[in-house]
Formats: sequence, C-alpha cells, structure tokens
Amino acid sequence: MISERPSLFGRSLSAPQPAGIGSFLERAPADVTFYGSGKAALYDGLSGLVEPGENVLIPAYLPDAVGEPFCDLGLEVRHYRLQTNLAPDLADIERRLDDETCAVMSVNYFGFPQPGLDEFTTLVDEYDCYHIDDNAHAPISVDNGTVLGTRGHLGITSLWKLLPVPNGAVLYCTDDAVAEAVTPSSFAGVRDQLGVADCSFVLKSIVTGLLDTNALLRQSVDGLVSGAAPSVPEPGVRYEAGKTPMSKLSAYIAEDADPATIRAARRDNYLAWQRVLETREDIDVLYESLPEGICPQVFPVRTSAPQRLLAELERCGVGTHTWPRLSATVCENAEYEVATQLSRELIVLPVHQHIEPSSIEAVGDRFRW
Ligand SMILES: Cc1ncc(COP(=O)(O)O)c(C=O)c1O
Repeated sequence: MISERPSLFGRSLSAPQPAGIGSFLERAPADVTFYGSGKAALYDGLSGLVEPGENVLIPAYLPDAVGEPFCDLGLEVRHYRLQTNLAPDLADIERRLDDETCAVMSVNYFGFPQPGLDEFTTLVDEYDCYHIDDNAHAPISVDNGTVLGTRGHLGITSLWKLLPVPNGAVLYCTDDAVAEAVTPSSFAGVRDQLGVADCSFVLKSIVTGLLDTNALLRQSVDGLVSGAAPSVPEPGVRYEAGKTPMSKLSAYIAEDADPATIRAARRDNYLAWQRVLETREDIDVLYESLPEGICPQVFPVRTSAPQRLLAELERCGVGTHTWPRLSATVCENAEYEVATQLSRELIVLPVHQHIEPSSIEAVGDRFRW
C-alpha cells in the first residue's frame, strides 16, 4: 500500500546529527514565524498591511479554503486565470487590477517554482502591490540558491504537507517594512505544551499504520465504516480550525527531520514515477524535469480519463486523488475553464519520504496497459 502521507512511525530520516527543518528555515533571507496553518500565517502577514474594502488577486486554481483569510480581513477576493502550464495569465491579472488592489499572490505548485515569475513580479511592482509568495507545497525547495517562499514581500509555507505532523506552517516576511507591520496574533508561535490534538494525531497514526500493514484488518474496518466516510467541513470551518499556534509535537518532529535526506528521498520517488509512466500515452506528466534543489510535494499527472486512472491506481494500492477542491465562485464561472478542467483531470501521486522507489516500480509492473 502506497499511502498519501508520510507516517509518524515511518523509517527515521534524520541524519546522525540532523540539520533540522528549523535550522533550514532560519537560513532563509526572511523573518520566520511559526503558525498552525498557512492560512493563519496569511492572515497575520497581511493584517497590518491592508484595509477592509481593498481587493486581493489570487489564482483560480487553488483549494477553496485559501481565500478565507482574505475574506476574514475584509478584502474582496478576485481570482485570476492561469495557463495550462500553471503560469499566471498576465493579461487577465492586469484586467482585474485597480487602485484598490493591495496584493497579488503567486503559487509554487507541487514543490516547483511558479512559471513566469519574472514577468509577474514586474507587473506587481508596476502597480505597487504586495507580492505574496504562496509556497504551501514546497517548504524545503531551493531554486537556483533561493529558498522558495521568499521571493515576495511575504510568503507562507506548510510544514504539515511535508512531515508527519498534526499541523504547522511558516510566515516569511522578506521585506523589512512588512516585518515591522506584522503584529503576531494569539495563534502565532509554537505551543509550549503537548495538547489533545497531539495525542489524537499519535493515536490516528498508530491506527493508520496498523491498517496499512494488515490487509485483512483494513478490509474488515473498511467494511465496518463503508458509507460512513466523514464529510469535509466547509472552507470557513477549516480555516477557523487552523487558527492555532504550531503544535509542540510538530516543532519537535520538524527539528528532528533532515531536509537534505527528505529531499533526496522524494526526488528518488519522483524519478521512479517518471520511469514507470514514461510509456503511458494517456498520461501527461506536468513537470518533465526535476531541477536540482527542488523537493517535489507530489508527482502531478494529467489525464482525460481521471476516474479510470484513479481506479487503476487504487487497484495497485496507491492512495491518491484529483487536486484541488476549487472554490464555488471558480466552479460556477465559465471564465475559469482551465482551472476547472485541471481540477477534474489532475491527479497527484505520492512521493513522500516513507515510500521506497521499489514499491513505485512494483506499481509499474501491475499497471494494466
Ligand atoms: C496552494 C495552497 N496554498 C495555501 C494552502 C493553505 O495551507 P494550510 O493548509 O497550511 O493552511 C494550501 C493548502 O492546501 C494550498 O494547497
């Protein structure tokens, strides 16, 4: 079974003297503050910079809850269009910008740098807006010597997408004036004690580990809970739940994890998927090359028959899904056809550090051609 997320009890990937994710982040050219979620970090990062009634531009191809912190700040959220390679549609951005636009956000999707960033930055500078570098997917990706997430006036990154932790994210303030304007709220920083959420995370990890290693047990539990899959809470509810400091357990695990070892493991798995899928003409690989320094979050592929591929992967024991659940405003608007189609056709294959490349190769052997 190839799980979607790394496990708390997976093989240890700390070096004998771990460099630690905390030490890695501290080397970034920015002020670093920890939070429970990237969305909470976005709220705090912008709260001293913007006024209610202004507007912010974010890409249409984004999970539905990412707009919530902006709404919480009283901003109007305007979605801009992307091209199919996930580069921003600059003409569309320019059409939506006006005197009330306070910030524009770019996204380093799936661990890779935002394509078309230079032209994007020139445009945002010309209109004198803040540039938010959304790096939720790529906490330890380094592009030509620059830590991703630090190329705007402010940026965020989500540690929980990289590590087996209950929560955790970072706010980068790259610009001095931005750093001075930030007043950390009650949900900034790291909790000083372990909490109930930490304990339930550990329990859940134990149960998931047991189910992943015992097919019979999984079958009976699946049978027991079939039809009772928990519904996903509304975006606003998920946002409010993330307004919390980073957990003490998360901070401990982050400090014990070695970025270089995790990056190497994820890259190996990325290359394994590439080998497995290279002869599949029905599957388009989003990023053909894996530049040095990049730590992929997943292996994104696109297909015109997503349900068939999902079923095939499930049969081979691969946990995966299409990405993401878009906001209702985007889904209901024909202008965002590229984002809507991507969200239906793009499947994210796991590459996390607790998968062995040989299990990915084994999936290749079982694929039906
Ligand atoms: C591109 C992107 N930005 C921001 C976020 C928000 O991060 P968090 O879940 O840490 O609040 C997500 C979460 O899925 C995301 O995918």
